[in-house]
Amino acid sequence: MLDLAIRGANLPDGRQGLDIGIRGDRIVEVTPGALGEAAVDIDATGCLVTPPFVDAHFHMDSTLSYGKPRTNRSGTLLEGIALWGELKPLLTQDEIVERALQYCDWAVGQGLLAVRSHVDICDDRLLAVDALLEVREQVKTYLDLQLVAFPQDGYLRSANAAANLKRALDKGVEVIGGIPHFERTMADGGAAIRALCEIAADRGLMVDMHCDESDDPLSRHVETLAKETQRLGLNGRVTGSHLTSMHSMDNYYVSKLIPLMAEAELGVIANPLINITLQGRHDSYPKRRGMTRVPELMAAGLVVAFGQDCVMDPWYPLGTGDMLDAASMGLHVGQMTGQDAMRDCFKAVTENPARIMRLDGYGIAPGCYADLVVLQARDPIDAIRRRARRLQVVRRGRVIARSAPLTTKLELPGRPPQVDYTLS
Ligand code: FE2
Repeated sequence: MLDLAIRGANLPDGRQGLDIGIRGDRIVEVTPGALGEAAVDIDATGCLVTPPFVDAHFHMDSTLSYGKPRTNRSGTLLEGIALWGELKPLLTQDEIVERALQYCDWAVGQGLLAVRSHVDICDDRLLAVDALLEVREQVKTYLDLQLVAFPQDGYLRSANAAANLKRALDKGVEVIGGIPHFERTMADGGAAIRALCEIAADRGLMVDMHCDESDDPLSRHVETLAKETQRLGLNGRVTGSHLTSMHSMDNYYVSKLIPLMAEAELGVIANPLINITLQGRHDSYPKRRGMTRVPELMAAGLVVAFGQDCVMDPWYPLGTGDMLDAASMGLHVGQMTGQDAMRDCFKAVTENPARIMRLDGYGIAPGCYADLVVLQARDPIDAIRRRARRLQVVRRGRVIARSAPLTTKLELPGRPPQVDYTLS
């Protein structure tokens, strides 16, 4: 007897009409039929069933703080950083915990069950670190929260960042962050990358840096990040986030850079919602799009994810925790409208970030964790198009969130009584 059966599922890889059998917290069977009885049945006939959405680039210490103490008038990255600097002294641990927990509720409702959050370590009190460690513990039964020690004000530029980063790691933060383009010189940026990667090698940790989040075509820190990754034997454990300067780089240089990144097996995270709003701010027209070269990086074999980066904070006034927003924006900005490219955009908010975060037991196969989302969509492309409702969200074999299907009743003479936004 199974504990849970999800019947008639369409999987993201294109297989249709499969039954998924679950016992305890694990998937035990995936079969085209004849699945045995279960204590609980979910009829997912014709619906996409996916492993959970994953956001590998987020800032949970600032989320849902929009308007505190004021809003970002220019909408620029630098005013956002300045605004966060104004807010930091006013923060309390309880307030950060409360906002983060509320955000995790939103995330669960959207089927987003794993988040890598950067946490600013430049406040000597390390309030945000303590707060998010507390949140990580509180949510661990329903959401995997991975924390990155992020020196927002610069690892070398900020006086106590090096000491604070070490304190944060000692407290249990598990990934090393950085922001080399925010150091005062290119040389300092390179030095920060070397120092941070050496700490990662010493401690056996992963690295995920905000890297080249700029429109400056000569911001080339990702080159150093890739080279240091190779020098220290960190292949497959290092991620470059944003990489927006690649949008503006000379094509010949990029033709040399991407193979180096591929050799270093760098993870890449673009944040389309933020990149399209924050970059190109010094341009008049034409105005650059400011997203890294996603299709080209994917074609070179790099693992590329789309992150949200921000939801309702000093940098971004919108968002609900819906990774399909990030997938849709990435699809549009990257002009990824071919069938395979659209499916790649869905992978960029599911299996690719799961690989970058090295999540254990992720997927739909016997032995994987029974973490699944049933969507009101036929397939991944339909899910992106419709920002499909998450009808059921399952974590470790238990339904933890439900939403009613979206239908709209019509009152039009001679027309159908309702629409559901699918092709008939
Ligand atoms: Fe970020």
